[in-house]
Amino acid sequence: MHPSLFYDTNPSNGIPLIMVEQTRWEESQLQLAEAEKNALMTQGFAAKTGELALIWNGSGLLKKVYVGCGEGAVAKALACAAYNLPEGAYTLEERFDESVLIQWALAQYRFTQYKTSNRKPRVLKVSESIFPSILTEANAIFLVRDLINTPTNELGPQELGDVVSKLAQQYDASFEQWVGDELLRDNFPAIHAVGRASSHEPRLLSLRWGNPSHPLVCLIGKGVCFDSGGLDIKPSTAMRLMKKDMGGAAHVLGLAQWIMENQLPIQLHVLIPAVENAIGPNAFRPGDILTLRNGLRVEVDNTDAEGRLVLADALTKAAEDNPECIIDFATLTGAARVAVGTDIAAMFSNDETIANALLDSAKEVNDPIWRLPLYEDYDSLLDSNVADIANASASPYAGAITAALFLRRFIPKTQAYVHFDIMAWNLSAKPGRPEGGEAMAIRAVGHFLKKRFQV
Ligand code: BES
Ligand code: ZN
Ligand code: ZN
Repeated sequence: MHPSLFYDTNPSNGIPLIMVEQTRWEESQLQLAEAEKNALMTQGFAAKTGELALIWNGSGLLKKVYVGCGEGAVAKALACAAYNLPEGAYTLEERFDESVLIQWALAQYRFTQYKTSNRKPRVLKVSESIFPSILTEANAIFLVRDLINTPTNELGPQELGDVVSKLAQQYDASFEQWVGDELLRDNFPAIHAVGRASSHEPRLLSLRWGNPSHPLVCLIGKGVCFDSGGLDIKPSTAMRLMKKDMGGAAHVLGLAQWIMENQLPIQLHVLIPAVENAIGPNAFRPGDILTLRNGLRVEVDNTDAEGRLVLADALTKAAEDNPECIIDFATLTGAARVAVGTDIAAMFSNDETIANALLDSAKEVNDPIWRLPLYEDYDSLLDSNVADIANASASPYAGAITAALFLRRFIPKTQAYVHFDIMAWNLSAKPGRPEGGEAMAIRAVGHFLKKRFQV
């Protein structure tokens, strides 16, 4: 369902939603008519986060709703309300900012391409001034979720290329791609090696947009449309969700759409290595040594550490234009999930100012990021006996850090760089986060870019 269906800018006839903090309720600071007070008491309302108390009029129609916000959890409470309220149009009595109001749409997202749903949208009345920015943000997140949820048989490397090409057309951007052997011809050996065993040819996708006089920002997304693990094959439970291994690509496309729609004064370069990590007679193997785009020779320790290989060639390519900043998003390691869990984006950066600004933005828009260190001493965990570097560490520890350190080897020392290791998936539904594909840290990054580059 399109996000615009969840909002309405006509202010009349909305059922009032009254957002109530727990302390305000407990300290009886609400001015209530006797009948309403009784209704709330009878329903056992305690203003816990997301709790609803419905007030009906004499004709049995819904008159207003009290929504519990716990201790300052307004965004979560609004998400719960959007999901649990009866069908209808609602209006908020107070003003809330965009990071709260967007939860109304995020909570109602469903992936319905292959399963019809007859749930009707719950509508929130919002002001005309805030509506466009909520909509562009929700559109970007819905795009991310849709792309991740779409199965690989419908969204392989070629179809992902079609998505980028269409986006480029829509915003008057330029689109370029290197397909199959063109990757070898133009020196993207790792992307070719990882993707060559699939009957769906590997490719590198590129979108460029914006005024060349503006600062250049490069976004790179891991586009592994399916990760079987290659010859070091994944166990079936680990493989089950691997349609989501193009989650990084989905993130940068959502962000790109948001940037172009907002006409941010930057020059944007999006790069997506799009491959399927498959098994076949010509699959790359453990022990193979690949010479990557920057000349570094990499011993393949494990074909399941494929993301860092395809990203390496893309990072080298991105840095050739000396951008102001390179930001990548990737479903790179299981270890990042062990470290920060499923809901938080793990961030690595070699630039203190940018990293701190991103952490501030994450807090401001309630889109969690946690920074992990590029700890130099762990570089040696990637030593290889026969090549410059191995693509995976033999140690079971610090897997997210060693992956990030691997990527850093493809970034010039003076190049500002940020790497996000993300889950891109909700294993179960939570308020505002339906089960399935999820956007992580893109509202934070969008907010950061706006603050840094908006004149
Ligand atoms: N796509 C996976 C990482 C992944 C798994 C992300 C589960 C999110 C959830 C990646 O390509 C991979 O398989 N990484 C290996 C690396 C290892 C072989 C060094 C991992 O994390 O186990
Ligand atoms: Zn893998
Ligand atoms: Zn992968």
